[in-house]
Amino acid sequence: MNSKLTCTIPSSHLSYDIHIQTGILNDKKLLSQYLSSLGSRFAIITDGTLSLLYGEQLYQSLVDSNLDVTLFSFPSGETYKTRATKEHLENQMFEKGFGRDTCVIALGGGVVTDLAGYLAATYCRGVPLVTIPTSLLGMIDASIGGKTSVNVPYGKNMLGCIYQPKKVIIDPSTLQTLPAKEFTYGVVEMIKHSLIADSTYFDYLDKQTHALLNLEPTPLEHAIFESCRIKKEIVEQDEKEQGKRHLLNFGHTIAHALENLTHYTLPHGEAVAIGLLVESHLAVQLGHLSQGTFDRIHKILIKYGLPLQLSSHFSIQALSDAMVLDKKSLKGQPRFVIINAIGSPLNCNSHYCMHVEEKLLKNALQWMNDDLCCH
Ligand SMILES: NC(=O)c1ccc[n+]([C@@H]2O[C@H](COP(=O)([O-])OP(=O)(O)OC[C@H]3O[C@@H](n4cnc5c(N)ncnc54)[C@H](O)[C@@H]3O)[C@@H](O)[C@H]2O)c1
Repeated sequence: MNSKLTCTIPSSHLSYDIHIQTGILNDKKLLSQYLSSLGSRFAIITDGTLSLLYGEQLYQSLVDSNLDVTLFSFPSGETYKTRATKEHLENQMFEKGFGRDTCVIALGGGVVTDLAGYLAATYCRGVPLVTIPTSLLGMIDASIGGKTSVNVPYGKNMLGCIYQPKKVIIDPSTLQTLPAKEFTYGVVEMIKHSLIADSTYFDYLDKQTHALLNLEPTPLEHAIFESCRIKKEIVEQDEKEQGKRHLLNFGHTIAHALENLTHYTLPHGEAVAIGLLVESHLAVQLGHLSQGTFDRIHKILIKYGLPLQLSSHFSIQALSDAMVLDKKSLKGQPRFVIINAIGSPLNCNSHYCMHVEEKLLKNALQWMNDDLCCH
């Protein structure tokens, strides 16, 4: 199957294709066809793990197609998504004479696509970027929509810009080597996509749990396609996150607070899974979501093996303080995406996130402490 989506952003007068095809990384001819017109020199940027798994092979494919290509890598992991890594890579590229005719190919998970994307955005004032995401989260989330960044000691993703790629190339077969836990963290974002946009997709994710966890090619390609479609349709309507793009933050107000209070020892995917539940709990209390639907959301997260467990209780005050730091906060109060039903978010005069009564928020946090804490 060769599926293609096109992301068109009218406000920025640009458009790019997202190609999804199992085995595409082994197709030298197609890769060269997709890439050759984008630059005269190619800088593959990847991390240490992926360099060995796919980087060297991609490098060889492009050399065989007579492209001028160099492979650059940095150690894998969030701690290397820094200004220092970016600078180090830029220096290496300048030393090798890479100029304005460069095309950057970001090969890896979200850490690589965020960092290499930011590098491409600023190198010689911006050179073409192609992303080849290899983690599920990278495929359905980080590689689409143009957010690029590095972390600084003052916070995650605090330096960066919106810079859209020229192309996204997704080969789901790379997921065969992705650790299972990392896969389920990507599934959390897929579930989020279904909750904010498409109940049929939710039903699909619910029915195909076994097939997806076993990486069966056809269901996997279909789910990746659906998630990419949902994300790109939202980005098309609101590239700069001023309205509809807030929907992609469903579950994240609580998740970011939990990550902050656990000093990032709670993995992001697990925090978002808990966030989806707690924010759904809020929707139940507000009378928008039925208890039965809440139970379905709880069940699907369990089916995909998400732990949904906190190692300790968190004080309501500390959680509330941490939530105020969320980017959606307004007038010192956190705001939340609220869903009416699966696939149907609340839209109040084109505002997709809203304040909730303090009492209800406290109830939801209390429920989290009572029901999800293992002590
Ligand atoms: N730009 C955006 O819109 C956006 C959206 C969501 C997340 N992000 C960012 O993405 C990052 C998280 O991305 P991630 O979860 O992909 O993390 P990651 O890039 O750190 O990848 C997780 C781990 O899996 C390894 N890996 C990736 N693909 C593999 C494969 N196919 N086989 C074997 N190992 C593989 C990586 O080397 C790494 O060790 C965060 O920095 C986050 O801020 C960005």
